Amino acid sequence: REENTKKRCAVLQLFLDTANVEEIKEALTWGVISGVTTNPSLVAKEKREFRVLVKEICDMVPGPVSAEVISLDSKEMIVEARELAKIAPNVVVKIPMCIEGLKAVKVLSKEGVKTNVTLVFSANQGLLAALAGATYVSPFVGRLDDVGNEGMDVVEDLVILIENYNLPTKVIAASIRHPMHVLEAARVSAHVATVPYKVLESMTRHPLTDIGIVRFLDDWAKVQKELIR
Ligand code: E4P
Repeated sequence: REENTKKRCAVLQLFLDTANVEEIKEALTWGVISGVTTNPSLVAKEKREFRVLVKEICDMVPGPVSAEVISLDSKEMIVEARELAKIAPNVVVKIPMCIEGLKAVKVLSKEGVKTNVTLVFSANQGLLAALAGATYVSPFVGRLDDVGNEGMDVVEDLVILIENYNLPTKVIAASIRHPMHVLEAARVSAHVATVPYKVLESMTRHPLTDIGIVRFLDDWAKVQKELIR
């Protein structure tokens, strides 16, 4: 692992895993996120028209915005994907990992439509997606951890496979549940980690920072009082 880590020098990108425009608006002001991923569950929570919402997010975010198809047949996925890709140049079409999904990715990648193969739970699934021409593959770390697997191992294996064979696909560590997942994703040289707003917010915090700020301000105020006297 160490040798692999040393070889690479690319920077980990952070995407926000949400369909909530308020969260995106706020996080963009922090200067740390460079893309957004959504999924049908996240979009459903917003209770808004899908395309209108995707357009609004794409206009806000300068980087890639993943929007997922809901068809399960490759031909229907392709039709949906083409429509989604028309919304904005930064749309990345999320395609579920399955044989029909691979067929769709093959066609879409030839057309220049960017894809993000989602619901990846093994390195083999991710490898197939990369070979079919996926722009991104998204191994779901948290959901693997939930069933007693080491989710980050899949991210690490995929990064190694992709780098070893010089494939252009990028690995997105997805289903991130806490700040340690982000750190681990960086340690295994994931290209991207997509994080929920709550996790991004908790990455900013440390109790010693809060204590430190209070102490600095107290010390400062004490001296100001003495100077006034
Ligand atoms: C990835 O793109 C998915 O939207 C997301 O990370 C899924 O996360 P969850 O397992 O917390 O639903």
